[in-house]
Amino acid sequence: MLVAHFSDIHALSLAGTSPLAFLSKRLAGGANLLLGRRNKHPVRIFEALIDDLNRLRPDHVVCTGDMVNLSLDSEFALARALLDRLDLGPREVSLVPGNHDVYVWAARIGRAFEHALGPYATSDGASEPTFPLLRVRGPIAVIGISTALPSPAPLADGWVGKGQLAAVEEALARQGSEGRFRIVLLHHPPFKNRHAFLRGLRDRGALQKVLRRTGAELILHGHEHRDLRNTVEGPHGPIPVIGVGSGTYDDPRPERRARYNLYRIEGREITVETRVHDAASGQFR
Ligand SMILES: [Fe+2]
Ligand SMILES: [Fe+2]
Repeated sequence: MLVAHFSDIHALSLAGTSPLAFLSKRLAGGANLLLGRRNKHPVRIFEALIDDLNRLRPDHVVCTGDMVNLSLDSEFALARALLDRLDLGPREVSLVPGNHDVYVWAARIGRAFEHALGPYATSDGASEPTFPLLRVRGPIAVIGISTALPSPAPLADGWVGKGQLAAVEEALARQGSEGRFRIVLLHHPPFKNRHAFLRGLRDRGALQKVLRRTGAELILHGHEHRDLRNTVEGPHGPIPVIGVGSGTYDDPRPERRARYNLYRIEGREITVETRVHDAASGQFR
């Protein structure tokens, strides 16, 4: 199986956005965005990433959140239109939200992420998105956790929550007993990251305990906008944890430039290839 993983697209569209939308947390985020970030995550790079995936045709694609910036309806509409250009379609593209996808309470209460991107976050046999997401594709089980919650600026923290943790444990145990290769998706890293007080996963300890009991074969995250390799403890040894940099970051530094990962999974072996955007050709290589 070939699984592609991208993250932190931060698609920006302010089309039809009234100044009222910038009240509350959006004021800080919106001003910051308009000043410095506007051209940092260009849509054309995401279009190139989609073209690359349509050419390489992996079996499954996963995205670990932050599709948008301010959880505006205009941004979600753009994100949906772009995702719909993936030839694989929503059944083979699995998405969990990041903190920017649930940026304000209005978006959380109104389920803006779920309404706009629901088909990409709906479990097998379900009619609407709920988390954890659970999809079984042949030898692979994709278990997607939502860690996104609205927090007052400048917080960008995350939370799994007790109810979701219990469901994650059950899904991991069952899929493990059936011998599947379990891929866990979550936006925030499941370990102590940089500036964890502001940007970390609050209940990472509780999640680590679940993983120590149940195990998992691969854990994928975003949020850090950097390539990261770590492990967390499983019942039979360390579980690989891979963070991928932003899929759209227009930065000249090769280690920060827009990228995504391809995981070739053969039995329990994982081979990782990183495809990086090339500014000269406008394509991923
Ligand atoms: Fe992000
Ligand atoms: Fe994030």
